[in-house]
Amino acid sequence: MPEILSQLVNDYALRFSSPTDDLLVEVEQFTKENHHDPGMLSGPLQGKFLEIFSRIIQPEAILEIGTFTGYSALCMAKGLKENGELHTIELRENEVRIAKNFFAKSLQRAQIILHHGNALEIIPTIKKEWDLIFIDADKTGYIDYYELTLPLLKKNGIILVDNVLFHGQVLEEEIRGKNAKAIQAFNDHVSKDERVSQVIMTVRDGLMLIIKK
Ligand SMILES: C[S@@+](CC[C@H](N)C(=O)[O-])C[C@H]1O[C@@H](n2cnc3c(N)ncnc32)[C@H](O)[C@@H]1O
Repeated sequence: MPEILSQLVNDYALRFSSPTDDLLVEVEQFTKENHHDPGMLSGPLQGKFLEIFSRIIQPEAILEIGTFTGYSALCMAKGLKENGELHTIELRENEVRIAKNFFAKSLQRAQIILHHGNALEIIPTIKKEWDLIFIDADKTGYIDYYELTLPLLKKNGIILVDNVLFHGQVLEEEIRGKNAKAIQAFNDHVSKDERVSQVIMTVRDGLMLIIKK
């Protein structure tokens, strides 16, 4: 699928953004060499954004839906308060195994809790109020994840949502793919929701930033 952000712009932005640490370089390299769909990983630019954003808000509790190989969780965990926790949920066993190994190498390892299973079933079992939620799993589940987690988000808490431009497919006159349709339905859903304010940032594949009023 074509990416909508030009490679030149991306390379330029990367060149003038702070470099990632060795562990993130290892996660990215491992994922590229060993996973059939490495494009799912947030990558250095979005990862640095997630890290700096998390450092700004200094969350006590972060929820991530869709761990994959652990890249974005490692980035966001850097901003946690000293006693803070990041909970991340992954459906697939293979990804859980990979992420677990990488989390064990992180300075924040004691603060990262990895859950294996379907996010829709796991979320209600974690008794926490969240400062920051990152929705980045199956696109057809986005509205359900949003509705399930918004009541658990603190006032002025933030939900970040990945892939809201879905490789540009939401810009097409007739949106065809199942996932692109699901993303469009999600964007419509949030835009009508009086409980929040939101902005779509044209970083990578589109990142929506939602604040709970
Ligand atoms: C786009 S990847 C996440 C990428 C990761 N957040 C990052 O930036 O590196 C989406 C992940 O969500 C997982 N996933 C899909 N459906 C899920 C569900 N119902 N519950 C939990 N995880 C799910 C997939 O197995 C996949 O690893």
